[in-house]
Amino acid sequence: MKKIERICCIGAGYVGGPTMAVIAQKNPQIHVTVVDINEARIAAWNNADLSKLPIYEPGLDEVVAEARGRNLFFDTNVDKAIDEADMIFISVNTPTKTYGKGKGMAADLKYIELCARQIARVAKTDKIVVEKSTLPVRTAQAIKRILDQTGNGVSYQILSNPEFLAEGTAIQDLMNPDRVLIGGEESDAGREAIEALASVYGAWVPQERILRTNVWSSELSKLTANAFLAQRVSSINAISELCEASGADVNEVARAIGTDSRIGSKFLKASVGFGGSCFQKDILNLVYIAKTYGLDEVADYWEQVIIMNDFQKRRFAERIITTLFNTVNDKKIAFLGWAFKKDTNDTRESAAIYVANDLMEEEAQIHVFDPKVTEQQMLTDLDYLNTRSSGANRKHLTVHQDPYTTLENAHGIAVLTEWDEFKTYDWQRIYDKMQKPAFVFDGRNILDRKQLEEIGFEVYSIGKGSL
Ligand code: NAD
Ligand code: UDX
Repeated sequence: MKKIERICCIGAGYVGGPTMAVIAQKNPQIHVTVVDINEARIAAWNNADLSKLPIYEPGLDEVVAEARGRNLFFDTNVDKAIDEADMIFISVNTPTKTYGKGKGMAADLKYIELCARQIARVAKTDKIVVEKSTLPVRTAQAIKRILDQTGNGVSYQILSNPEFLAEGTAIQDLMNPDRVLIGGEESDAGREAIEALASVYGAWVPQERILRTNVWSSELSKLTANAFLAQRVSSINAISELCEASGADVNEVARAIGTDSRIGSKFLKASVGFGGSCFQKDILNLVYIAKTYGLDEVADYWEQVIIMNDFQKRRFAERIITTLFNTVNDKKIAFLGWAFKKDTNDTRESAAIYVANDLMEEEAQIHVFDPKVTEQQMLTDLDYLNTRSSGANRKHLTVHQDPYTTLENAHGIAVLTEWDEFKTYDWQRIYDKMQKPAFVFDGRNILDRKQLEEIGFEVYSIGKGSL
């Protein structure tokens, strides 16, 4: 079996960075170089101050501290790292297409193709190329065709090794994965490549948790896993509206159904809607693939998960407006949280962006506090929607460094992210300084509703009966 000595990972993002840091930590004998065209990102990965790493993940700083400079390196020289490596991970972004055929649905594979062409141009020795990015089923075929065209005598094996980590728990997920999935060609060379990658993970993952499949099953399993997970959130969110209408409590319903071992208790938290860079993108991609094969019923089934999620975000904003006497014009609405979930600084597709946008359409003044998200990021998120000029976005958004100034004089407070610290605030002090009636809209069901009501707040919690 081929022993891997040098790894290159193209893409130093939320997946490439933490994944390679853990691989390097657990395999001190392997030289791991993570490369990116984004110079600022690489500089941040190399920052001596570990609190300035480009992404925030609990525990990441310790792993980087141990491996960086020993056998883990971050660099902008992509050619050199490709040339020297015997295994190359492709971990670049695969966003939803914003133009042309498949616009708004298909995955944009231009960065993947650029990587394949760069590998084809640079490689002088045999390589194992690993798809770490989430890709449409059969992408490996396209990568192989590009690589095999060069005719320079280099032979390639393409593996699919999708990543299942969730942000906020990335290090924990990488250290103790439910499974590692490796798909490869059904040939001797393919099996040898699979085992080479399995031995890298084998440094800390028990062999029985390393699943080997064909390439297409592996590619499709990643899209399917995200679709199933997102579907659970949309399902419980659909029930949350029914709870509000009927007087049932969504937390009690989730507990009651979750104790059935066939259903399971995880991923049943009703919320203001799921966000993150993966769920929506991957389901849209699945829908597009199904349509491409002419499977309209399959496509429609999965599309409903997105439709429900969009509705949940809109419904939350509408509830704020109707509760505040049908107008939020010039009213101060304070947001607790902007990230798409706690323990991350990532805001991609965060529900907060859409709720803020809807409220700004009604001329509300949005004031935000998030422990990890910068003002620049929030403004970029709003500008990206293209609903109004960036000047208008700036007029309607104020970002605070302190939660109490954020909430002072607010007409309503909306909890958009489930950061633990929000539960520990002095809610009496907050109440005393708010406009009355003082409204709280808990989009994550994290606050103690009874305690808030005793203080005097009027509380709306997702799936718990109306105000
Ligand atoms: P990201 O945007 O954080 O990082 C991607 C990086 O790739 C960027 O820094 C970009 O500059 C770099 N890049 C793009 N083209 C390049 C090129 N030609 N050469 C060098 N660098 C290049 O993205 P991410 O969140 O890390 O996601 C990467 C992939 O992993 C996606 O396919 C995503 O669907 C998948 N994934 C993400 C998560 C997650 O939680 N974020 C989890 C599982 C899988
Ligand atoms: C997801 C998948 O979980 C992970 O396996 C995959 O590799 C990448 O996509 P991520 O998006 O980082 O991970 O976070 P996740 O914990 O899945 O949460 C996604 C969204 O769903 C968040 O906005 C979260 O708040 C929301 N969510 C999750 C709920 O609203 N309710 C739940 O019960 C669970």
